[in-house]
Amino acid sequence: MEKIINLSKRRGFIFPGSEIYGGLANSWDYGPLGAELKKNIKDEWWNRFVRKRTDMVGLDAALMMNPKVWEASGHVAGFSDPLVECKKCHNRYRADQVDPKGACPNCGSKGSFTEAKQFNLMFKTFIGPAEEKADAVYLRPELAQAMFVNFKNVLETTRKRLPFGIASQGRVFRNEITPGNYIFRTREFDLMEFEYFVHPKEWEKHFEKWLKEMKKWLKDLGVSEKKLHFVDVPEGERAHYSKRTVDIEYAYPFGQKELYGLAYRGDFDLAQHEKASGQDLKYTDPEDPKEKFLPHVIEPTFGLDRSVLVAMLEAYQEEQAPTGEGGEELRVVMKFPKWLAPVKVAVLPLSKKPELSKIAKPIYEELSEGFVCEYDETQSIGKRYRRQDEIGTPYCITVDFDTIKDKAVTVRDRDTMKQKRVKIAKLAEHLAELLEK
Ligand code: GAP
Repeated sequence: MEKIINLSKRRGFIFPGSEIYGGLANSWDYGPLGAELKKNIKDEWWNRFVRKRTDMVGLDAALMMNPKVWEASGHVAGFSDPLVECKKCHNRYRADQVDPKGACPNCGSKGSFTEAKQFNLMFKTFIGPAEEKADAVYLRPELAQAMFVNFKNVLETTRKRLPFGIASQGRVFRNEITPGNYIFRTREFDLMEFEYFVHPKEWEKHFEKWLKEMKKWLKDLGVSEKKLHFVDVPEGERAHYSKRTVDIEYAYPFGQKELYGLAYRGDFDLAQHEKASGQDLKYTDPEDPKEKFLPHVIEPTFGLDRSVLVAMLEAYQEEQAPTGEGGEELRVVMKFPKWLAPVKVAVLPLSKKPELSKIAKPIYEELSEGFVCEYDETQSIGKRYRRQDEIGTPYCITVDFDTIKDKAVTVRDRDTMKQKRVKIAKLAEHLAELLEK
C-alpha cells in the first residue's frame, strides 16, 4: 500500500485532500492521472452496461432527496453501525472492530469502552437559510433510492419491458465511524450501480447472469481471479432489504474485504415507496394486462474508488530491467490494461534540440486529437521511459536524429520494452490499432 500511496502522490494519481492546510483526515483528491483513470473506468462501465445494452437506461439524480425517501427505504431507522467510545480518551470505534473488553487502540486503557449504541451513517444538512428541523435533508448514502423513486417515470417515458435496468453513477456520503486504508473507506465516494427489474419468478436466473457479468468486468479491469472471493452473505448479516447477497471480496494488502456487492432486493424498495407515497408503482404486463405486480430487483453495485484501488494494486509491478549501459536496475511499471491507462502515448524527443522538437511537437498535437498524450523533453531518455512506465503509459514515441532523414520514429512497448520503427505518416493509425488490442 505504501508503494502505491507514494507513487500516487509523486506522479499525480491521488493527493491527500486539502494538503496545504494540513489535510483533512481520510479525504483524497484525484490528480490529473487519477482523474483520467477514474473517468476511464466510469466511461467503460457506462458504455458497457448502459449504452451498448438494449435493456438498460441511465439516471442522473439529485444528491438531496425528500427526507421521506430515507424513512421509507429504512435508512433513517436502520442505516447505522454500532459505535463504542473509550471513556478515557473519548476516541470512537465501530464496535465490531475492537474487542469490547480489550485495550483502546489509541490510549491503551483496558476495558474502558462504553456499551455499543447505534450511530446513523447519513450526513444531515439543512436546505435554505434556516437550520430548522423541517428543512433538514440527508446527503444520499446510496444511489439506489433515486432509481426506485423514479421507476414509474422511467417506465412511462422509455416504455421498457421487463427485464430492464436503471443505471446510475455518482457521489454518495456516509459518516463512517472508522474510515481508513487510503481510498478503501472514505466518507464520500463514488458508486456505479444499477437496479435490474425482473419478474419475481425469474430472479435467480438474473442473479446468476449478473454475477457472471461482474466477474467478466473484473477480469477486464485487470483483476486476477485468485485475489477474488465470492461470499454468500448469511441471513442475519445481510442488509435489511436483501434476500440474497454475494459480497465480492478482494485480498487487499490490509486483508480480505469487500470490493463489490450483488444483492437481490426483492420488491422491498418499491413496496416501501408505494406504501409511503401512496402512488401505484406496479408494473402491468402488456401481454397480459391482468397481471399487475411489483417487479423484483437485482442490484449489482460497483464502488468506483475501490475499482481504482484494485486496478492500481493489480497493475503495480517491480522488475529488473537493463539500464542500457550493460547493467540492470529496478523498474516500476504500472501494467494497466491499455483501455485503462490514464496516458496512452508519450512523445519524447531524444534531446531538447530545436530540430527535434520541430518534428515532435506536431506529432504530439496530432496524436492528442485521438488519445491522451504527454510530451516530455527533459532529462535522459532512460529516466523519461521509467517515468512513463511508472504511470503505465502503453507506448512511448521517440523522435531521434534519424527521424530528420527517414521520417520515422521509434515506438516502445511498455510491457516488452521492445522498440519498432514506424513512419510518421502511419503513426496515428498504427497506435490506434495497438491500443485496440
Ligand atoms: N445500493 C447498495 C449499496 O450501496 P453497499 O454495500 O452499502 O451497497 C456499495 O455499498 C459499494 O460501495 C461497496 O461494495 C463498496 O465498493 C463501496 N463502498 C461502501 N462503503 C464505502 C466507503 N466508505 N468508501 C469507499 N467505498 C465504499
